Amino acid sequence: MSTLFETVTFNDLEFKNRIVMPPMTRCRSSHPGNVATSLMAEYYGQRTDAGLIIAEATQVSHDAQGYSFTPGIHTKEQIEGWKLVTNEVHKNNGLIFLQVWHTGRMSHESFHNGSAPFAPSAIETPEDTTVWIANKNGNGGAMVRCTPPREMTLAEIKRVQDDFVNAAKNAKEAGFDGIELHGANGYIIDQFLRKSSNQRTDEYGGTPQNRIRFLIEILERIVEIFPPSRIGVRFAPHNITRGMDDPDTPQTVLLAMTKMATLDIGYVHFAEVDWDAAPDVPEEFRALARAIFPNMIMVAGKYDLEKANWVLNKGYADLIAFGRPFIANPDFPTRLKNKLSLAELNPDLLFGGGSKGYTDYPRHEET
Ligand SMILES: Cc1cc2nc3c(=O)[nH]c(=O)nc-3n(C[C@H](O)[C@H](O)[C@H](O)COP(=O)(O)O)c2cc1C
Repeated sequence: MSTLFETVTFNDLEFKNRIVMPPMTRCRSSHPGNVATSLMAEYYGQRTDAGLIIAEATQVSHDAQGYSFTPGIHTKEQIEGWKLVTNEVHKNNGLIFLQVWHTGRMSHESFHNGSAPFAPSAIETPEDTTVWIANKNGNGGAMVRCTPPREMTLAEIKRVQDDFVNAAKNAKEAGFDGIELHGANGYIIDQFLRKSSNQRTDEYGGTPQNRIRFLIEILERIVEIFPPSRIGVRFAPHNITRGMDDPDTPQTVLLAMTKMATLDIGYVHFAEVDWDAAPDVPEEFRALARAIFPNMIMVAGKYDLEKANWVLNKGYADLIAFGRPFIANPDFPTRLKNKLSLAELNPDLLFGGGSKGYTDYPRHEET
């Protein structure tokens, strides 16, 4: 029997299994205002067979936005919207964390009154790096090239760190069980980590110690808001897309993890490379990560039962996140456990819109 379906306890948290629904942006918050809705509450409430749900990437401030219709957690209205979601998940005996992000250079001037977004350094993303923008009346949407960024001032760095801290306070008020910092996929924390996007000459750039500073200073402050066991960070150490290629990244991430271990942070979440024919994560990296980090390790990226069992049996991970399978299979853990057939998601209905392709995928027993 796979340990994937076993209950796990970690400090005061009990996960009903080791299966996680990872953060997935679906662009269905209300507009204007970027407020989580009752439809989103229904969607997350349907997926509480998971041991843990991590709600989609959510803006820490107005200027953190890079895509249309993504939710925020910086206004009173947004906190109230998220309460609908956390209440529904808790009613169904689920656990839910919130992923918080600032997109940095992965953004567009339309979110900044026509000005450039800011980033650690004024380094453009490659031409094929795009964000999803809906048209003016809120219908439809298209992938649009990111606007070249300007370099952040030191005061702006401090302000964005404050925004992350404030987002953690608001997430707590909204009823989330914990919080995940989005340090993956080329967004602002990742932009600070890598030489490819961070060429600052102050204390936030240059050496690996300086490049992890932005993240570590935020963590040092949010452990005062959530217990450290309820805080996680998502990294994508082997991702080289979006102009992020820096061969030192795995080492930089391991350094950040040593600091996180000192702070007793609850988990590290690896977004592994997930595009077709991507190279697998070197086993040596998995072993190093395990040796460095004593708390939970979560992995995501094209996992199936066999790969999940392998990584669990090797001891390289404690929790396994399955992303796309959760979209079309609200009862994915039950289907996996009972070897039931899986439905396919409709790629045209991933971003934006209403209940179609969102809350209308049935449980297996309803098919
Ligand atoms: C529609 C969609 C939206 C996503 N949005 C996010 C997000 O908001 N934050 C994040 O860290 N990863 C995001 N991801 C990545 C997933 O969390 C996950 O790592 C990825 O889908 C690989 O897992 P899978 O192969 O099991 O789907 C998204 C993926 C998809 C398919």
